[in-house]
Amino acid sequence: MSGERPIGVFDSGIGGLTVVQEIRRLMPGESIIYVGDTARAPYGGKDAETLISHGREIIKFLISKDVKAVVMACGTSSSTSYEILQKEFNITIIDTIRPAVSELVRMAQLQKIKPVFTATSATIKSGLFARLFSEKCKDVELVSRACPLFAPMVEAGLSTDNPLLQFAADNYLSDLRGKVDTLVLGCTHYPLVQGALVRTLGEITFINPATATAIATKDAITPSRDKKADIVYYTSGDTESFSELARIVLKDYSLTCSKQSRITSFIAGLK
Ligand code: DGL
Repeated sequence: MSGERPIGVFDSGIGGLTVVQEIRRLMPGESIIYVGDTARAPYGGKDAETLISHGREIIKFLISKDVKAVVMACGTSSSTSYEILQKEFNITIIDTIRPAVSELVRMAQLQKIKPVFTATSATIKSGLFARLFSEKCKDVELVSRACPLFAPMVEAGLSTDNPLLQFAADNYLSDLRGKVDTLVLGCTHYPLVQGALVRTLGEITFINPATATAIATKDAITPSRDKKADIVYYTSGDTESFSELARIVLKDYSLTCSKQSRITSFIAGLK
């Protein structure tokens, strides 16, 4: 790693790489330590207590790697654990839900929109996004939809053109075709299924919270002066399948792992 302190980023699996991509685009000089908790994915059906405990372990691990801030690149952790863990740790934590709310509020203030918020079951159950949005935009009707199979399907290697994924997308959302014009990708895995969502809902506007999250991260950190940035990946699961999927995702988003990138297990760090 470079001499400067890295940014820690975590998710249940590879979804958080959609946030890494935006951080890299915005701050190419920042080194990143990425944790994908694939051994315990998916997070979307877990209760808040379990998710807080997983988040706590990962943040401790990232702090042990001397990160300067932690990005919860996971809507599910963000909506269930952010408030509690931010109070527990003396480190800046950036979540994905609040930046996504700000982005939708900004759009709703510019024009009349018919939005739908899609996310995992745990995120929808928390009600956080809908509550924060309605505090700012009382008059805008927001539909919330859980799409629980998307993240496991992405983790299983299904691409956005896969018929099973399309079947799931149609099941979850086809009744909204023509009734919504803006969709919030409230889980960081969902940008990876956007093609299926377009086929289900037509050419609507998509809000990918990764962009706003990267901007929030930039605002929260002291920038690195180093030019030699790299990414180190850790997974609690199978390192080979993680690295295979991660490469596909990063290639899809025209990013490649740097030569220094390595993927090692952080199971020891979790015990
Ligand atoms: N990518 C995560 C999120 O943003 C977690 C998905 C899952 O593991 O169910 O919600």
